[in-house]
Amino acid sequence: MASITVRQLDDKLKRLLRLRAARHSRSMEDEVRVILRQAAEQTGGEVLEHLDPPARPTRQTTRAIAAGTKRILLIIGGGIAAYKSLDLIRRLHDRGAQVRCILTAAAQHFITPLAAGALCGERAYTDLFDAQSEFDIGHIRLARDTDAIVVAPATADILAKMAGGHADDLATAVLLATDKPILIAPAMNPRMWAAKPTQRNLAQLIADGIRVVGPNRGEMAEPLEIAAAVAAITRPAGPLSGRRVLVTAGPTNEPIDPVRFIANRSSGKQGHAIAEAAAAAGADVVLVSGPVSLHDPPGVSVVKVETARQMLAAVERAMPVDIAVFAAAVADWRPERTSENKIKKQPGQTPSLALIENPDILSTIAHRKSDRPRLVIGFAAETEALVANAKAKLAKKGSDWILANDVSPQTGIMGGDTNTIHLITANGVESWPPQSKDEVARMLIERIVGALGDAKR
Ligand code: CTP
Repeated sequence: MASITVRQLDDKLKRLLRLRAARHSRSMEDEVRVILRQAAEQTGGEVLEHLDPPARPTRQTTRAIAAGTKRILLIIGGGIAAYKSLDLIRRLHDRGAQVRCILTAAAQHFITPLAAGALCGERAYTDLFDAQSEFDIGHIRLARDTDAIVVAPATADILAKMAGGHADDLATAVLLATDKPILIAPAMNPRMWAAKPTQRNLAQLIADGIRVVGPNRGEMAEPLEIAAAVAAITRPAGPLSGRRVLVTAGPTNEPIDPVRFIANRSSGKQGHAIAEAAAAAGADVVLVSGPVSLHDPPGVSVVKVETARQMLAAVERAMPVDIAVFAAAVADWRPERTSENKIKKQPGQTPSLALIENPDILSTIAHRKSDRPRLVIGFAAETEALVANAKAKLAKKGSDWILANDVSPQTGIMGGDTNTIHLITANGVESWPPQSKDEVARMLIERIVGALGDAKR
């Protein structure tokens, strides 16, 4: 096999290589290995796939990561709570994060790298001196190519090593080499937790700027709680930092039988854009969406529902929130009965459909006696007398603001990319120019920030 060293390359190539290596935070040798590997894979990828399936990055790692997607490095320590970390991977995915895993040697007594890797969508990393991982990623890059590191479960041993600055395995080397925020979720026997060295180490770690979630009554914090803590430390700071925002979006589907349903033309684009803009402004956002064919907005907790009743239940579970924006086109009625089996065609007979009213989600939340959001914002989809109908809706539904839009087919708003809004509040009507749904979302967030600021004064 030919052997070549970087020194033998010509100067121009060396310069280019140096630049590329610096961009990827790798040594020049590592960069060459990656280039060679990629070239070899392009020609012999299918063969490699059969020889070496878990070692190759899967589609999820190689696909372009959507802008704003948070990358989380999860270090799984050795404790019985390690099984919960598998659920944590799923919870982090639910929040739109991309997850990469390191398992300590002790963790591998409780769960396998294969299970963690399968859930992450890329191989789990285990060894500091693993030719495979040094080959294409290396511990320095693991430490840097992430937005945050989570250690869950964080055992007494990991805490001690972190506090002492040890770096004798992949997990501790990465923890020492990183400049990214670190969150630990301790889990251990209550006596080990109460032991003076553990408490001393913990105090040191907190002083070093490391965040802690749990433990709760001796147990590791629940995956949902850890995922929320991760989201909080990776969220951008902005004018809505510390605020919780709920957005509904999309249509609802109301089943007639197992294959048929009542739906509408809503695409969910406006609601998704609002959720994304709120997250970009630093808010903790829950998006309750009916069936849509859109990607989940980054940094947002997405709850997927089908029917109006499911949407109401999800909205109630998300309470309390500071701001609620109801952009969903909720079906006003549902079939009174959903047939268990597909309704068969009978010669000469047309079935009739009896409908009953769905709950009004906006009105239910706006009329809450306790925990009413400070700002309740609805939409009015109208095809005539836009402003007059929207003003009537403001009063009837008890919402603070209404964003009225004309959804007549010729406007192309329903399902389209642009929107023309009239913002109706107790102070009057403000007509916005036609603009993209993303711009509408940003303008709405600006108004919300303004209103919250005014309320404080
Ligand atoms: N909405 C809701 N739950 C419903 C119906 C509507 O939360 N069951 C919300 C929508 O998300 C929107 C607002 O109420 O924010 C107005 O929706 P719209 O469809 O314009 O009005 P409707 O209440 O359905 O009244 P109509 O169909 O008579 O115009």
